[in-house]
Amino acid sequence: MQVFCRDFKYCAKNSAIVRIALLRTCGGGSAITVFSRMSETTSEFQVCIAGTGSYVPEKVLTNEELSKRVDTSDEWIVSRTGIRERRIAAAGEFTSHMATHAARKALEQAGIEAKDVQLIIVATITPDTPTPATACYVQQNLGSMGAVAFDISAACSGFLYAMKIAKRLISSGAFENALIIGAEKLSAVTNWEDRATCVLFGDGAGAAVLRRAEPQEGSILATEMGSDGNLTHLLNIPGGGTACPITSDNVNDHLFTLNMLGKEVFKHAVNRMKEAAEKVIERAGLQAKDIACVIPHQANLRIIDAIADRLLVPNDRVFVNLDKYGNTSAAAVAIALDEANRSGAFKRGDNIVLVVFGAGLTWAAAAVRW
Ligand SMILES: CC(C)(COP(=O)(O)OP(=O)(O)OC[C@H]1O[C@@H](n2cnc3c(N)ncnc32)[C@H](O)[C@@H]1OP(=O)(O)O)[C@@H](O)C(=O)NCCC(=O)NCCS
Repeated sequence: MQVFCRDFKYCAKNSAIVRIALLRTCGGGSAITVFSRMSETTSEFQVCIAGTGSYVPEKVLTNEELSKRVDTSDEWIVSRTGIRERRIAAAGEFTSHMATHAARKALEQAGIEAKDVQLIIVATITPDTPTPATACYVQQNLGSMGAVAFDISAACSGFLYAMKIAKRLISSGAFENALIIGAEKLSAVTNWEDRATCVLFGDGAGAAVLRRAEPQEGSILATEMGSDGNLTHLLNIPGGGTACPITSDNVNDHLFTLNMLGKEVFKHAVNRMKEAAEKVIERAGLQAKDIACVIPHQANLRIIDAIADRLLVPNDRVFVNLDKYGNTSAAAVAIALDEANRSGAFKRGDNIVLVVFGAGLTWAAAAVRW
């Protein structure tokens, strides 16, 4: 008979986290599942968000200006999306530059020096270069030479993917702190002749410092993430990778800019974000009335309103800044978190919920006690 460990799950027992191994035994073509407790306690560290920061480029591109480039109008863009303007990075301003600005502010608020940062994760679909990782440029800019630095690619969900990864690496004891950043220069991968997409996106960066929490501090209560690789066709940049490298023949075919089936994306965004948010709210032992602030991905005001309705959270407890920045992909929820934090949208001890959705398709959520 073969016995192998299939999975682990965690449950609370006498105030301790108990790790349960789900063991599966196979024999004679049949399989049964038995449960066995592997260890009485695993002392996981609580993880808090100690500081946030954000940066957007100086140049503002209004709907009015866009309507001179493509067949659109301020009225159409505002009524269909809620976006009024977006920021556009300068030619010599790269994703790593914006990420570094945001990171410095987050470190300052956290009271952690750049040299003491142990882990840097940059979530982006617009890296400075295919390799090395944008996180390595950020490491160099900050002088965080003791850190481990890498990128993740999960589109608009990337910042919360980074949060879950960093939280796990800190709670396990592998690292004491982490700098997580969502940063994008989407203007570099936008088809400025396609009115269906060019009105939606913008540039910017947001960052957060995670570290082990002291007993009296808040913590990240629950995280969730998911993907559906059957839906890669809904939102993508088809060229520029190994499937369709840039050649002199295809360079003008708009294969290296964002393509999207907007209506389909809309439908999945609402359903997936609602489910992900509900999961973390339930796992954190919260109800809608306990949530001081929901910070959703900033893609479309109609998507945000639909999620608030479904979660039964009143609109005045949902943070929105997409009117100023449009959809900045991985940076969007990170910039919103920083602006919500600095504007006093929630205070110490409040429960907040972050929820995102993006190409992949991917989605993620986090419930945090501030
Ligand atoms: C993109 C989006 C705003 C389009 O809104 P919509 O209500 O679905 O609009 P449609 O795509 O059905 O287009 C309706 C009409 O407006 C037109 N239109 C599209 N973009 C336009 C624009 N910028 N200005 C004016 N008209 C536009 C279309 O051509 C279409 O015209 P038709 O009826 O003559 O064919 C919406 O689908 C959306 O936000 N989807 C989710 C996108 C998203 O969040 N992506 C990122 C995920 S991370």
